[in-house]
Amino acid sequence: VLGAGAGRLAYDLHERWNATATAALDFNPLLLMLAQRVTRGETVALYEFPLAPLDLEHEAVLRELTAPRPARDGLAYVLADAHRPPFRDGAFDTIVTPWLIDILPEPFPHFCARINALLAEGGRWLNFGSLNFHAADPALRFSREECAEIIAGSGFAAPALREDTIPYMCSPASRHGRRERVLSFSAEKTKQAKRAPRHEALPDWLVRGKDPVPALETFRRQAAATRVHAFLMSLIDGRRSIKDMAALFEQQKLMPSDEAEAAIRQFLIKMYEDGQRGYV
Ligand SMILES: C[S@@+](CC[C@H](N)C(=O)[O-])C[C@H]1O[C@@H](n2cnc3c(N)ncnc32)[C@H](O)[C@@H]1O
Repeated sequence: VLGAGAGRLAYDLHERWNATATAALDFNPLLLMLAQRVTRGETVALYEFPLAPLDLEHEAVLRELTAPRPARDGLAYVLADAHRPPFRDGAFDTIVTPWLIDILPEPFPHFCARINALLAEGGRWLNFGSLNFHAADPALRFSREECAEIIAGSGFAAPALREDTIPYMCSPASRHGRRERVLSFSAEKTKQAKRAPRHEALPDWLVRGKDPVPALETFRRQAAATRVHAFLMSLIDGRRSIKDMAALFEQQKLMPSDEAEAAIRQFLIKMYEDGQRGYV
């Protein structure tokens, strides 16, 4: 189970289907640690902080997490990134991805190839959850139809799709809850797909710190903005108005005073409101 969270589904699958070996993988150590303790038979006390508490009594609710019984042998927890799963090719007959595919940063076609590599021939990929890709590039936000096409083009038979509307994140202690139309699919691996490129969460110059930091456009823009902000802050002396400052911006040839006035106002509103909220 990739993105297994606190492990309830992995536990249920392992117990219900008498699996020989089940790996519950997630990159959140807190969730995996809880899953491990609970499914070994411990009772773990944990506070729930509802998003919109029903009343004062429900601001923080102490819950006790327990499993119906300790898990059978063979349920393993793996702290790892789903983009670089530490398993050999063809290691699994089933892979389950609950509420995961649309929150990963890598393009969906790459992830499909990764799942294909992990599955043995004839193995099955089971998925369910939301379908709401957030990639900055709109071309990487895939529809249901596109997902089905990509899966079928990644070494799987055409997937069987199903949609259901279900309650999600609904707590009896909260006024807040969601209803989601979730997509489930089952896809059988029919052939080996082309391998996905190695995933790099961050470039080497950021991770290792030894390579030159590239002069990216985003850094140039940030540097220019920082200089302008520094100049603006130096003008705040308790006497100058926004119009006075805009005139100085024009004098310094930074921007015309009408544009500067709007920009200064916007910037100061943000700082003022952050201050009111106690952020700075
Ligand atoms: C929306 S939650 C779903 C949790 C659980 N599957 C469920 O249905 O309750 C997504 C889970 O995926 C995990 N996750 C997100 N990105 C991941 C990644 N790159 N590698 C491993 N786990 C990841 C998160 O830590 C979180 O537990």
